[in-house]
Amino acid sequence: MFLLKLIQAWRSTAFGVYGYLNFTRSGFLEHAKNFNREDMERRIDGKNCIVTGANSGIGYATAHGLALRGATVYMICRNKERGEDAVSKIQSSTGNQNVYLEVCDLSSVRDIKSFSSRFKEKDIPIHVLVNNAGLLENTRVTTSEGYELNFAVNVLGTYGMTELMLPLVEKSQPDARVITVSSGGMYNSPLTTDLQFNSGIFNGVEQYARNKRVQVALTEKWAEKYGDKGIGFYVMHPGWAETPGVATSLPSFSKSFEGKLRTSDEGADTVIWLALQPKEKLVSGGFYFDRAEVSKHLPLAATKSYHDAIAIDSIVDTLNSFM
Ligand SMILES: NC(=O)c1ccc[n+]([C@@H]2O[C@H](COP(=O)([O-])OP(=O)(O)OC[C@H]3O[C@@H](n4cnc5c(N)ncnc54)[C@H](OP(=O)(O)O)[C@@H]3O)[C@@H](O)[C@H]2O)c1
Repeated sequence: MFLLKLIQAWRSTAFGVYGYLNFTRSGFLEHAKNFNREDMERRIDGKNCIVTGANSGIGYATAHGLALRGATVYMICRNKERGEDAVSKIQSSTGNQNVYLEVCDLSSVRDIKSFSSRFKEKDIPIHVLVNNAGLLENTRVTTSEGYELNFAVNVLGTYGMTELMLPLVEKSQPDARVITVSSGGMYNSPLTTDLQFNSGIFNGVEQYARNKRVQVALTEKWAEKYGDKGIGFYVMHPGWAETPGVATSLPSFSKSFEGKLRTSDEGADTVIWLALQPKEKLVSGGFYFDRAEVSKHLPLAATKSYHDAIAIDSIVDTLNSFM
């Protein structure tokens, strides 16, 4: 017990220091000194991209960046009005009219299934699927389908969307890619099979970190499972960006880091970069930050040993049973 507390204290200290030095705006500007400008000059005219949670923050910036480079963008939003507003802003600021709204609530398996069967009728190849929608709900909320809300959106929503869209993603092989927006917060959590925080007192921040760790492990699993289908699976984290989500879920953090956080565009930079990079330069299953592959574990944080095949296989079995 004492050792566990000591490890947790070390983990959160290491995370705080590493995050402060790298995840803020100054970290982005420092890392940007090594960026190649040409990487972002590629066009992706005619490529079909899906971005979930696209009406706000990093998702909006991603959809905008993809549309600016000529892609046909399907923006998945849960709210029709907010979605329509975002679509029309992107159409007018980019001049790209091939930007469309799809309404889907990712906290509902029923809704994801209904969206996917509707969308599949288009029978088009999907070149890039960006799993961006996410939230940090501090209190325990149960969805109408009976799932803990953070888990429902961050894990089950990401899993369901990816698995159900795979037949369309596969159509764009060998260039197909799935990009999932995780969080640096996942460094704080080992992989656990307690997906809905059933043991112990519920803690939203911890649950969010667990969810984001699962996304990293799922990406590894997908890369291994579908490696022969010409699909690249990448997971990234955006650093700390000033978005409506952060302001609502982490008000004290947001206030104390006022002026130090990244913009949404800076948070979305690596997502767009992953969509544009030639696939042979990327590692499927890899975790990316500021246009580079980075470690999935902090030194001495004792998260690596949990990251084994047994845990993720059992998590996948659970997720399949919910689909
Ligand atoms: N900002 C950061 O510093 C940071 C750091 C690490 C990771 N991230 C990750 O980045 C991603 C984007 O977050 P953000 O900071 O840009 O937050 P945000 O501004 O709140 O955007 C989140 C988006 O997800 C959507 N969403 C939430 N629940 C949904 C649901 N049930 N169905 C469909 N869409 C849903 C939101 O829709 P509504 O507008 O309708 O709520 C919104 O469009 C998340 O996965 C987050 O975990 C962000």
